[in-house]
Amino acid sequence: MRTQIGIIGAGPAGLLLSHLLHLAGIDSVVLEARSRAYVEERVRAGLLEQGSVDTLTEAGVADRLHRQGLAHHGIELRFDGAGHRIPLTDLTGKVVTIYGQQEVVKDLIAARLAAGTRSGNPAILFEVSDVAVHDVTTDNPRISFTHDGVAQVLDCAFIGGCDGFHGICRGAIPEAIIRVYDRIYPFAWLGILSHSRPVSEELIYARHQDGFALATMRSESVTRLYLQCAPDENLDEWPDSRIWEELHKRLGCGDELQQGKIFQKGVTAMRSYVVEPMRHGRLFLAGDAAHIVPPTGAKGMNLAIADIRVLARGLERFFARNDASLLEQYSEICLRRIWKGQRFSWWMTSMLHRFDGEDRFEHRVQVAELDYVSTSRAAMTTLAENYVGLPYEV
Ligand code: FAD
Ligand code: DHB
Repeated sequence: MRTQIGIIGAGPAGLLLSHLLHLAGIDSVVLEARSRAYVEERVRAGLLEQGSVDTLTEAGVADRLHRQGLAHHGIELRFDGAGHRIPLTDLTGKVVTIYGQQEVVKDLIAARLAAGTRSGNPAILFEVSDVAVHDVTTDNPRISFTHDGVAQVLDCAFIGGCDGFHGICRGAIPEAIIRVYDRIYPFAWLGILSHSRPVSEELIYARHQDGFALATMRSESVTRLYLQCAPDENLDEWPDSRIWEELHKRLGCGDELQQGKIFQKGVTAMRSYVVEPMRHGRLFLAGDAAHIVPPTGAKGMNLAIADIRVLARGLERFFARNDASLLEQYSEICLRRIWKGQRFSWWMTSMLHRFDGEDRFEHRVQVAELDYVSTSRAAMTTLAENYVGLPYEV
């Protein structure tokens, strides 16, 4: 099989890349390890920066997002038993939108399958295995894989390594070239989805002496709630009653916290991770394949979308004008935004979580920081402009 861009991974990064390339008249094939049903049901992020919404809107895949997404103009920080609103829109003129990552994935898969490819190849191959990349430092890179029990090779001009944190693409960059920045946090998030109305119209980020809690939502009748927990937390030790009790305590809610039926539970590890460079020859890493952030502040999917904007534009210029200049700068341009996203996610995580072994001084500094952020307009603006998304370079 031959195509212009071979893309590994049908998450937000790989699917958006394939879609933007299609709009630019560039052919691609997406290879995905999991089934369509699996990737469409995988529960993950839920908050889109204004720039991500604009990107999906310009790409013509945001009809449902505009119908079902919930625009938010502020968030609440809760600590020491009191709530403090950060008026995002007043401070920045921008909004953020709640719309589940799996809904973005569904919309992109539908668009790719409906449009197909010029070459007649399938737009997406699900349930592929044994995926490996070859000859990435030549002009003819290849991807080998197995589909339906048949070993195949995809010849292409470039490879999009969009296969997430546990994918194989990052490993194709030689150790002598790659630099890894890694921080593992001593806690995780226990996340649930429940059939109940949201706790409040806006998201609540709560710092409590027993640990962080976040109240967010997916719709008017589905709430998403997170609790700081141990990295190796055993979900069997978290019956629904314990989850509700802990949420009530940490969020400091009364009747606003409606206890509906919990229909999804999971534990998300917390890690900050970046590799540099994000390109090796004709292999380009994007999204979680190159970097992950702890989820506080919801930057993960938004950073993946930002990488893809640069990569799609770079490939477009290459094929339209034989101009590789943007591709040459891909890593550098993306990393500037990624490091700001890393800094923000690390800062939000540090300010809001309980660190075991924290001394009394550190605790008071943490609360002073929250107090400052919720009372100084300058500090609030710093939080708000990062939260809604910094401007794109490309
Ligand atoms: P992914 O969405 O991971 O997509 C990669 C795709 O590649 C997957 O479909 C995978 O199946 C496929 N793949 C992997 N290996 C191969 C292979 N060898 N061959 C073919 N295909 C392969 N972010 C937030 O902002 N807020 C959150 O609350 C939040 N919660 C999260 C919870 C979990 C459990 C995880 C894992 C992440 C969470 N994130 C969250 C991060 C956010 O979901 C990611 O940043 C986002 O998914 C990145 O998109 P991506 O396309 O780069 O990677
Ligand atoms: C969501 C997740 C986050 O990590 C966050 O900071 C805000 C919202 C969410 O799942 O809705």
